[in-house]
Amino acid sequence: MTDIVDIDDLTTGELATVLDRAAEIKAGNTGDGDASDDPAGEPLANRTLAMLFEKPSTRTRISFETGMTQLGGHAIFLGPDDIHLGHGEPVKDTARAIGRYTDFVMARVFDHADVVDLATWADVPVINGLTDDAHPCQTLADLLTIREHFEDPSVAWVGDGNNVCQSFVVGAAMAGLDLTVATPPGYGVDDGVLARAEGFGNPPETTHDPAAAVAGADVVYTDVWVSMGQEDDRAEKLADFEGFQVTTDLLGDRALMHCLPAHRGEEVTDDALESDNAIVWDQAENRLHAQKGLLAWLAEQE
Ligand code: CP
Ligand code: NVA
Repeated sequence: MTDIVDIDDLTTGELATVLDRAAEIKAGNTGDGDASDDPAGEPLANRTLAMLFEKPSTRTRISFETGMTQLGGHAIFLGPDDIHLGHGEPVKDTARAIGRYTDFVMARVFDHADVVDLATWADVPVINGLTDDAHPCQTLADLLTIREHFEDPSVAWVGDGNNVCQSFVVGAAMAGLDLTVATPPGYGVDDGVLARAEGFGNPPETTHDPAAAVAGADVVYTDVWVSMGQEDDRAEKLADFEGFQVTTDLLGDRALMHCLPAHRGEEVTDDALESDNAIVWDQAENRLHAQKGLLAWLAEQE
């Protein structure tokens, strides 16, 4: 059974397969004449996805729920006050019970260890829908978006070496992308994440200089400086990230990616985000297609 706690729970070959599957589903034509894996063939008929959310979500919640419906299945939204998790029941007990009812679990939690525990104890595939450390489903959509727009691009990450960045670093290494990560001192990607990227033979360059990072880039990718749960650190982070805002000047003619939600006026300016360079809506749409590809592929692994 495959759990997607982070993007490298897939092999490099599996990642390519999931992205191909996502592209086929997006195109509405698998090309193999087999209706069972066609979107209209409802490959997830009678399958149920439990969606656990400790944090808010627009894209993840809606794309997973819609994706399950479009593939013939069903999703159950479970917010922070809907179940006993976080109110006295241990993660391992919640995991074992949910696994007896549903076919997949998707969880958005604060502590990465909790999604690891869910994956350990649930008897069904567990998908990380964002933790404080990782966001592999975002990386799937990012890689799908990049390959739709570019052949062999160079990408510059500018901003926080956070959850979204960390999964992207590993996914980019797996996909063979050229990546430079520019963060302020103290906000870099964890050494363990860099080591995992190194393990794929393709670690990113790292720098504290945004201008140097974007110099050779085709794409600039950023995310919020104040992630969910970091609100108390807001003033300190805004000061520490001075000079890392993605403006139209920094962007130049490069494409702009952002996982969203964006905090305009902080990590990105309104005019950069509203410019024709922004491919953020394609990126957001691809959450749906990428996750449909992942769910359909996971269902076939049983
Ligand atoms: N990018 C992303 O995960 O968005 P949501 O927080 O809206 O789910
Ligand atoms: N880094 C952001 C990503 C939101 C999708 C956060 O964790 O809040």
